[in-house]
Amino acid sequence: MAELAGVSVRTLHHYDGIGLVQPSARTGAGYRAYAAADVERLREVLAYRRLGFGLREIADLVDDPTTDAVAHLRRLRGLVLEQRDRAVATVAAIDRELEARAMGIRTTPEEQLKVFGAQLYETIGSDYPATRRTEPRIAERVWDALGDARTVLNVGAGTGSYEPPDRDVTAVEPSAVMRAQRPGGAAPCVAASAENLPFEDRSFDAAMAFSTVHHWHDPIAGLREMRRVARRVVVFTHDASDVGWRHRFWLTRDYLPEVAGLVAGRPPVDRLAAAIGARLEPVLIPWDCADGFLEAYWRRPEAYLDEHVRRAVSVWTRVGPEAERRAVDGLRDDLSSGRWAERNRDLVALDAAELGLRLLIA
Ligand SMILES: C[S@@+](CC[C@H](N)C(=O)[O-])C[C@H]1O[C@@H](n2cnc3c(N)ncnc32)[C@H](O)[C@@H]1O
Repeated sequence: MAELAGVSVRTLHHYDGIGLVQPSARTGAGYRAYAAADVERLREVLAYRRLGFGLREIADLVDDPTTDAVAHLRRLRGLVLEQRDRAVATVAAIDRELEARAMGIRTTPEEQLKVFGAQLYETIGSDYPATRRTEPRIAERVWDALGDARTVLNVGAGTGSYEPPDRDVTAVEPSAVMRAQRPGGAAPCVAASAENLPFEDRSFDAAMAFSTVHHWHDPIAGLREMRRVARRVVVFTHDASDVGWRHRFWLTRDYLPEVAGLVAGRPPVDRLAAAIGARLEPVLIPWDCADGFLEAYWRRPEAYLDEHVRRAVSVWTRVGPEAERRAVDGLRDDLSSGRWAERNRDLVALDAAELGLRLLIA
């Protein structure tokens, strides 16, 4: 078994000892005998290990009764793709720096940070402004939640869509591609990541983060950093823990189930809230939402057939081209056959939908 799996016998004994992978039987001579289900579990444990998960986290993942082998494979696939995207972008950043050094150009600290920053957005960020812009009704909710804050830090700021115009804003954004697309006159932007904010304790009245926490390597560490540097924290994110969320939104339920694998293993929204003592408020998505995030077109399904709409939402890149093609073809067929309309006839009468989007306010 050890030889097949490429691990030491000691490792297998350790996994057995801590109850992570316990062989179902012993031979007469006392050897551990692994049944097919044990092998499957070992394969999952080793794959999560390779992705850098700790043994305790892995135990929680593989013991989750709601996740079967196929769901684990989907989730693993999503995580590996995410790592691949990061690796590809890191190689590109290293190549750029090597090239610059070979030509005798000294790279700035900001350029060097690119290797570690938001690599996915280095790849997909240039498609972002096509459909991602401020949705005024949601912006109003965020700005209200900021209260009387005069100085505001916007973390994972991107192009700055939700920066309040009437306050003193400082932005933090690790992706150079995103920073470069900030409009002239936008708030000053620092190249840094949420997990390590280069500011003194309590430097700001409030810190906000919009539609970015799910990209952070360590969301809890990032939120604690926001809490450290600001008196008030306002975060807009989605409730990934809620199984109902996947089922509520027809796109992920009927066409893109792979999204479940992408969000699996991320801390649930109530854990995020608890980490900074935040309360949670639902945010309904208006039917004509101006910001083209994943759920925005819930009543305008044809929009998802548009490549520009998809390229501005990272999920479509992260599920991979095969799943994307299958989802788009399926949706196109169902729209022309009337199947989509039949299945979703209740939606047409709604002006706003509850799709698991939340404000965290601390
Ligand atoms: C979906 S965009 C949202 C941008 C902006 N907040 C908005 O609403 O338009 C996500 C942003 O998070 C940034 N990001 C990724 N990892 C991050 C990290 N560890 N810390 C801070 N920002 C990060 C990405 O570079 C990207 O600009």
